[in-house]
Amino acid sequence: MTVIQKTKEDPIIKAPFVQEMMEATTNMWRNGWDERNGGNVSYLLKEEEIQPYLDKNQILRTIALDFPVVELANQYFIVTGSGKYFKNVIKSPNDCLGILCVTEDGNSVDLLWGLEGDAKPTSELPSHFMSHISRLKQDPNHRVIMHTHTTNVIAMTFTHELNAKSFTKTLWKMCTECIVVFPEGVAILPWMVPGTDLIGTQTAAEMAEHRLVIWPHHGIFGAGESIDDAFGLIETAEKAAQVYMLVNSHQSGMQQAITDQELIDLANAFGVIPNPSYI
Ligand code: 13P
Ligand code: ZN
Repeated sequence: MTVIQKTKEDPIIKAPFVQEMMEATTNMWRNGWDERNGGNVSYLLKEEEIQPYLDKNQILRTIALDFPVVELANQYFIVTGSGKYFKNVIKSPNDCLGILCVTEDGNSVDLLWGLEGDAKPTSELPSHFMSHISRLKQDPNHRVIMHTHTTNVIAMTFTHELNAKSFTKTLWKMCTECIVVFPEGVAILPWMVPGTDLIGTQTAAEMAEHRLVIWPHHGIFGAGESIDDAFGLIETAEKAAQVYMLVNSHQSGMQQAITDQELIDLANAFGVIPNPSYI
């Protein structure tokens, strides 16, 4: 009751970017991708978007970063909190989400809203921030990094060869739309300990050429110009992985498939250039 009351009174809950975060995290949880506190989202906000709701000089607390991100100085983000359940974001956005501003020197973030009760931003903040830096160099309209535990992509990392070229071609061939949605293909990291600066730098390095980076036996990172864009990209890859797992668990196996020539025909028809090192 208290939470519902508090949520109703806080006008920022109605802000489009907070609503988008609430909707996306709920959908991710309902898709079965984000069990417990699995997954995290960060969304680059424009100053004019937050201005009607927040005074940027009213800093609640400052949180030190152990990795400098001076490239993101004075940039605003709404992020999910560490250990927060996506299931609960819609009920308690003030607890589960936070709005941050990266300090001038890039060594810390100022909390402007949310993450109540001394909560921290996601433990994957190094991978998020470094990936934002990487994607912004490629695309000035880039805004969202989304990490989630997509069930079938994870399953596929146990049964399929962990090679970005062959993994990508398999995904492209599972659903006709795939090569049009992610013509650059996917990248795959070796298995690594999550939450570290190292996995952050490696994810960001792959983000220079891909918007989808797979963490074997863990999940996926997706980038986009909007929440819908990042979500749509991830759900397309996840759908392809689901089809792959279905086909491979069927006793008759694969009887026919989209050929390499058909992938090229598709790319030509839709005016996309598939990654030349993959096909
Ligand atoms: P956080 O709860 O810290 O965001 O971590 C969840 C997760 O998916 C780690 O990879
Ligand atoms: Zn994770």
